Amino acid sequence: MDTPSAAVDIPARDAAAGSTIVATLSHSPGKLADVVDVFREHSVNMSRIRSRPSAVNAEEYDIEIDVNGVDEETFSSLITALPAKRVTHLATNDVPWFPRCEADLDESVKDVWGYGAELDADHPGFTDEAYRARREKFAETAYSTRHKDQMPRFEYNEEETATWRTIYTKLKELHPTHACKEFIAAFNLLEARGVYSPDTIPQLAEVSDFLQSSTGFRLRIAPGLISSRSFLNALAFRTFFCTSYIRHSSTPMYTPEPDVCHELLGHVPLFANLEFAQFSQAIGLASLGATDDDIKKLATLYWFTVEFGVTREEGGIRAYGAGLLSSFGELQYCTSDEPEHRPLDLEAAATQEYPITSFQPVYFVADSFANMATALHSWAMRLDRPFAVTFDPYTRRVIVLESKQEIMRLIKNVNSELSILTRVLEHVL
Ligand SMILES: [Fe+2]
Repeated sequence: MDTPSAAVDIPARDAAAGSTIVATLSHSPGKLADVVDVFREHSVNMSRIRSRPSAVNAEEYDIEIDVNGVDEETFSSLITALPAKRVTHLATNDVPWFPRCEADLDESVKDVWGYGAELDADHPGFTDEAYRARREKFAETAYSTRHKDQMPRFEYNEEETATWRTIYTKLKELHPTHACKEFIAAFNLLEARGVYSPDTIPQLAEVSDFLQSSTGFRLRIAPGLISSRSFLNALAFRTFFCTSYIRHSSTPMYTPEPDVCHELLGHVPLFANLEFAQFSQAIGLASLGATDDDIKKLATLYWFTVEFGVTREEGGIRAYGAGLLSSFGELQYCTSDEPEHRPLDLEAAATQEYPITSFQPVYFVADSFANMATALHSWAMRLDRPFAVTFDPYTRRVIVLESKQEIMRLIKNVNSELSILTRVLEHVL
């Protein structure tokens, strides 16, 4: 039987602010009702409640409850009285909600800024009824696909495939002279495995499987442009929100929004590179529960790296950013002498102003993806967030390192991995 507050951490908190309480219960009837009773007895309203299987024990499940405006004394009494095996809570003020497991991304997929089924008046497909009907269909599929569902297959028509072929062929011509070597290697591998070809728009399910087997990254269908917070949050789970529709056929070399060409021909190949995958996930982990100001910084850093990053190779400047690799014009411009090339400094890149409707006047030059990932971890420690998070690759969940229990569990895992490595080394040396 669960005993009240078997393990309770009560970090300092601001009584006026909101908190998220996580109560771990055993799988037996009536447990949730007992928890609700304690809230009722303390006259504390739950502003949000969610449940999920525990990451620690298959016989347990976690109830995550948001509360607001609870004074310190009531809060302390409440969590002490909870009939749970473990109780933890975020000791932070106004920590924005963030996903803890992949199923939580079902919430994020609704957080669309634009270009779902609705198109702006200046969109090339705005007056094309057939195109708008297609877009609505793609958006509906994205909204209705849940984490538990299989990735749907998309049937692309001849006009759409022709647009893909035009873009694919033109961009690929520029790879040897304008793309970084890691991108070219991954692109060639996608072709060799039969996932990519100019004649067929790849199925996102197959692309996702390829990434999963390479670095653990996965694709999740997006209805349109996802908000910065939700988009970055998904990266923490090695999940990339990816659109499935294609730009209007009248402008094959231009799109005002992300489309399947931008995603597959710009973003996807490098998610198969381990160091780049680690860098991308590090941005995502830093974004979980981040302040709005820090989300802006992280989104700007993402812009100047994952979208518009360049690196220097023997032959000169080479692109690794998806916004460049999916743009015939800017890919040539970014490697020329015309724009300014500055060495990548994460703080400078995170605060640099940039235009969104014209070529970039400034690009930041990275030396290596491995160094970027290391530098990002250090830089992210300076962000205004009073807790740390880590990703559990076995359960694909995010662990908030706030309670002693979670930190001890992580140390045990690290010890276990170290002892395996030690034994391997003893055999090898
Ligand atoms: Fe993008």
